[in-house]
Amino acid sequence: MMGMSHFRSGEELLAEAGRLGLYLPYRESIEPLLEPLPIGEQVIPNRLAIHPMEGFDSEPDGAPGDLAFRRYQRFAVGGSGLIWFEAASVVPEGRSNPRQLYLHQGTFDRFSRLVEETRAAADGAFGASHRPFLVLQLTHSGRFSRPEGVPRPQVAAANPDIDHRFEGVTLLDDDYLRGLQDHFVEAARLAHMAGFDAVDIKACHGYLVHELLGAGAREESLFGGEDLTARSRFLMELVDRIGAECPGLPVAVRLSLFDGIAWPHGFGVPKDGSIDSDLTEPLLVTGELIDRGCVLLNATSGVPSFNPWTGRPYNRPVSGDREPPEHPLTGVHRLIRMTAGVQKEVPDLPVVGTGYSWLRQFYPQVAAAVIAAGDVSIVGVGRGAFAYPEAPRDLMEDGRLDPARVCIACSGCSELIRNGRPGGCIVRDREIYGKEYRELHASRRKERG
Ligand SMILES: Cc1cc2nc3c(=O)[nH]c(=O)nc-3n(C[C@H](O)[C@H](O)[C@H](O)COP(=O)(O)O)c2cc1C
Repeated sequence: MMGMSHFRSGEELLAEAGRLGLYLPYRESIEPLLEPLPIGEQVIPNRLAIHPMEGFDSEPDGAPGDLAFRRYQRFAVGGSGLIWFEAASVVPEGRSNPRQLYLHQGTFDRFSRLVEETRAAADGAFGASHRPFLVLQLTHSGRFSRPEGVPRPQVAAANPDIDHRFEGVTLLDDDYLRGLQDHFVEAARLAHMAGFDAVDIKACHGYLVHELLGAGAREESLFGGEDLTARSRFLMELVDRIGAECPGLPVAVRLSLFDGIAWPHGFGVPKDGSIDSDLTEPLLVTGELIDRGCVLLNATSGVPSFNPWTGRPYNRPVSGDREPPEHPLTGVHRLIRMTAGVQKEVPDLPVVGTGYSWLRQFYPQVAAAVIAAGDVSIVGVGRGAFAYPEAPRDLMEDGRLDPARVCIACSGCSELIRNGRPGGCIVRDREIYGKEYRELHASRRKERG
């Protein structure tokens, strides 16, 4: 298995990078992570973020359930300066699973309470001067929708590389997309009233808004085809509408800079059909977003069920999946490099970096060096936060992380949600999620007889 080594020191990690021919920034002093940063009108207390991580544990109506309250409570007392709340659907048919969050009039009160309790927890732990920035990610899961637990793919354009996995694929027409914008705007309005500091229009990981950005094969549509203006129209109109209809609500975007899918189905790839990162279009999209008032960008990559190693480098795949075709550090390095390629071009826009969990207890030293070089503004962890939500607090208090608490990139959390179970760390949050994992495997064994 690739990358299974447990580095005992930063030197060992850097030696592995060197062996692969990769330059990995690294510095012993992690101070840059603890500096405040303005986002829009607000100031976040540090550069440590938690990425959006779906928990698959909502109530049937889409309201956050008890495990979601627990999750955000843990995140808040852990000290992160920015908490990016997981994907919440804006329409029932676009839910990724029957227990994905769904923000609408009927669930608004529970979302408000979630914000309130998250804020109270941060306040209780660190005092009023520590006010984390709370972003809610809004989405339509598009091709990966499973509102009743079975695939119900709704797509911007057919993609022969992926669609053969599904039985029926619905092509969404322009009228549907126009109507969908109304639901995004309504959800943004509710999120604002619920007390979130910003909303994110999720444009990553193969979900609908991201798929539209690469929908070169979409024909006779205002929202797709050869032209980037058409492919990005849905997103840009939405940013404009939220600006106009939800005054005072900052807009963020989580953007896949590269999806590992060839043109005319992929975004952030060359037009010659090769599968490589090409930042030309992501940079144009970022520039447009800035012109339209977007205050924050979260840079990511890959399509989880198609090429998971691209966006969340791991040591062990989800049971039954193929081994990754590249060393995990190659994936980490690509994410850092691509993000730097954007941040350098837009130094005034706070960009959040992704891909750090695999570095275990050494991610702060790498992250601090990347920030010090001006190659990113904020560094987020996803799986790492499921495992070790208090990492920022430990960094504030000790300047280092506890190696016994870090994410080991075992893909257990991914496997849980892939199978429709609540997601969390099966190793470090064992009582709840280790149990879920054991039950999942027991039920598999039973099915096999
Ligand atoms: C269980 C699980 C759920 C996730 N849910 C979301 C989500 O709701 N929205 C999103 O943009 N990314 C989601 N991601 C991706 C993470 O935000 C993150 O980009 C990825 O895990 C890589 O970061 P890491 O290496 O720090 O884990 C999810 C990842 C996992 C493993």
